[in-house]
Parts: sequence; structure tokens; C-alpha cells
Amino acid sequence: MVGPSGSGKSTLLNMIGLLDKPTSGKIFVDGVETTRFNESKTSEFRNKKVGFIFQFSNLLSDLTVLENVMLPRQIGGKTVGTKEEAMKLLKTVGMEKFVHKRANKISGGQAQRAAIARGLVNSPSIVLADEPTGNLDSVTADTIVQLMKSMCKKIGLTFIIVTHDRHQFGDVDKTITVKDGRTTDGEDEEEPPVMEVTIK
Ligand SMILES: Nc1ncnc2c1ncn2[C@@H]1O[C@H](COP(=O)(O)OP(=O)(O)OP(=O)(O)O)[C@@H](O)[C@H]1O
Ligand SMILES: [Mg+2]
Repeated sequence: MVGPSGSGKSTLLNMIGLLDKPTSGKIFVDGVETTRFNESKTSEFRNKKVGFIFQFSNLLSDLTVLENVMLPRQIGGKTVGTKEEAMKLLKTVGMEKFVHKRANKISGGQAQRAAIARGLVNSPSIVLADEPTGNLDSVTADTIVQLMKSMCKKIGLTFIIVTHDRHQFGDVDKTITVKDGRTTDGEDEEEPPVMEVTIK
């Protein structure tokens, strides 16, 4: 997802992930109208269906890398197999050597790898990433992009990524451009566009 600063990319992403509510309009994810969810359904969706990756990894600095990655699953009430799943993902993102390091003792690129593992630990259907490479040098950013693309293929899940650097991502299935709060698809419509997200 691309578009100028202030165009509404983060807002759209946050609404898809139910971190934010639209003042009007409906949101469908995978054919389900999520704007009708009550509070408990909303938290369940947020916890189980979506994984979040932000510009700053937002790891809890007092916890180890492993503990950070395990956290969303524990919050979701799943304890069985959590450590194994977290370890498997940390290995996939090349962080196996750092699992017991405190989160404030690793580099930005390493933290972002850990954040990807954390975003995937609940086996979400969709991963929402808001400028996940925005805070990284270009070499590290390239590695993170390749990592996300390979996870996308390997696990077969949908990533929706906001970026200022469209170039960095090379080939993607779809580019959504947001301008003045609208996706380009909805430019000619009178009604606010209904944003539909289809999960593969
Ligand atoms: N909770 C909110 N309530 C009302 N307006 C908001 C809210 N959050 C953001 N905005 C406004 O909505 C517009 C879109 O903001 P948003 O953060 O989605 O842009 P963005 O495309 O992600 O920009 P950037 O590329 O700078 O991150 C901005 O004008 C912003 O000030
Ligand atoms: Mg933004």
C-alpha cells in the first residue's frame, strides 16, 4: 500500500486490523463484515486472525526475544506448543542465536526479524505491516523485504504492507494506492469505497 504522507494508509491498515473503527462505511475481511463485531469478537479477530508488524519493532525491552515472540500466543490463551512454535519461527527468520537475548540488546534489523516472528506466532491469516522497513538501513531493509516475501510464499499467507519505498518490494501481487483517504479503485465512486480484503 502506497501513497503520500497523511493520505490514510495507516488508518486503513489499522481499520483492517480492528485497531481503529471507521466513522462510516463497512469493512469486510475474508467475506466477513468485521465492522459488526462486538468487543469480544473484535479482540478474538485481532489476536487470532491478524498479525501486526510496525515500523518500530515494539518489542518489550525487559523480555527476551523468545518471550516477546511467545507473548501474543499466551495472550490468546494458547500455551501448548507455544515455545516450540516461537523457536521454529525465530529459526526461520534467522534469529536462533539470539532467542535468549533481552530485546533491548539486539540491533534494529534483528528486532524487526523478531517482530516478524511475533507477528506470525498465532498463525494469522493476514499480516499487516506498517512501514516495516522504515527504520532500517537499506541493506537490512532489503533482507527484511526478502524475508517477508519468502514467508509469504512459504506459509501462503497474505501480507498487506505499507511502504514509502515501492521500489524496495519489487514484484508484488497487488499495489493499492491511497490518496486523500481513498484507494485509487474508489476514485470515481460517489459513495465511500468499501474496502474488501480477500485472504488467499
Ligand atoms: N484517529 C484519528 N482520528 C482522526 N483523524 C486521524 C486519526 N488518525 C489519523 N488521522 C488523520 O488522518 C489522516 C491520515 O493519517 P494516516 O496516519 O493514516 O496517514 P499515512 O498515510 O499513514 O501517513 P504517513 O505516510 O505519514 O504515515 C491524517 O490527516 C491524520 O492526521
Ligand atoms: Mg502511516
